[in-house]
Amino acid sequence: MRILGLSGGSINGNSEILLKVALKAAQEVSPDDTHISFVRIPDVSIPKHYRTDDIRFSNGAIEQVDDDPLVPDDRPFVLDLIMQADVIILSCPIYTRTIPGIVKHFQDKTMGPFQDTAMARLRQKSQPGDDQEKYDLLFKPRVAGLIAVGGAAGTDWTPFGLPVMHQMLFPMGVKVVSQFQIHGCGLPASVLLDSAAISRAQGLGKAVVSQAGKHDALFLGDQKGVCPLCHLNMIVIKSGNLIECATCGASGKLVASQDATGQHSVVANFDADGQKTSVLTESGKDIHLQEIIRIGSALRPQLPSLESQREEFKGLDDVWLAELPSKTHCK
Ligand SMILES: Cc1cc2nc3c(=O)[nH]c(=O)nc-3n(C[C@H](O)[C@H](O)[C@H](O)COP(=O)(O)O)c2cc1C
Repeated sequence: MRILGLSGGSINGNSEILLKVALKAAQEVSPDDTHISFVRIPDVSIPKHYRTDDIRFSNGAIEQVDDDPLVPDDRPFVLDLIMQADVIILSCPIYTRTIPGIVKHFQDKTMGPFQDTAMARLRQKSQPGDDQEKYDLLFKPRVAGLIAVGGAAGTDWTPFGLPVMHQMLFPMGVKVVSQFQIHGCGLPASVLLDSAAISRAQGLGKAVVSQAGKHDALFLGDQKGVCPLCHLNMIVIKSGNLIECATCGASGKLVASQDATGQHSVVANFDADGQKTSVLTESGKDIHLQEIIRIGSALRPQLPSLESQREEFKGLDDVWLAELPSKTHCK
């Protein structure tokens, strides 16, 4: 078994300490030959510019970018660690109510559509036999645990932590089996004073190992949340009583109820059909894939007619683009 930690915070900081606590607990319940390592995401060297043609590599690999000798590309190495892993534990601090931008940057440049299983299945169908080993690795079952660490006292300053962390792992079909948000961890290493946080991290480390390798891994987190798929509580209210899970896209309804004492309440209900739109399911990812194929086919024939307008906008660079001291503009 291979267990990979991903740390999104400061060196030896609160989120990294909780990650190591979880890894130690995971080690205790793992076979002796288990390989454990962790990566500090802020250390990962990522070349600056997007190459949109990379996206066709939605097969569990990523093409090395060596355009800039000053910024080596660590992404293929880290992605390989992720691909080999059976268990991933991601631990991040909260910065301005969400995860650190550098973690999101890593996600955008390395994960997402590059490793999307729905895209990979389509690609595999159209080019059978190609990259079979990579597909096998991409499609193997993986489980994850998420730890979010905030300095603030309550949820009002931590709402987008766990929901955004989910976005890192769903394209690859990684099943989150445990997750928690810590509050009040405001000073370096102060998490060591929080015995409840330490024991939750230990519980998470053991929980992820117990579900490793299972296609039908169970959610074992201590808070079930209103969404039955991502187990979080962030809801988008649509028209009427229709709702959507902001984290995973499951569709549902708000339903009014009244208990025996006459007390009224409103509950979020996500039935089996509504769960099919969640990006945590292959059907949900497929809906999106078909949607972007449809949009692309409608727009592509019109692109040649835009060339001259596009050039006009490009010309405005010479007039308005501020010259950065580093002179690292992309032209
Ligand atoms: C730039 C910055 C923004 C922060 N914003 C928040 C916030 O919005 N909510 C919160 O609960 N804590 C916030 N914090 C506090 C950190 O989440 C907290 O100190 C955490 O323990 C740091 O984790 P680390 O030691 O792993 O780096 C912020 C810290 C920094 C440096």
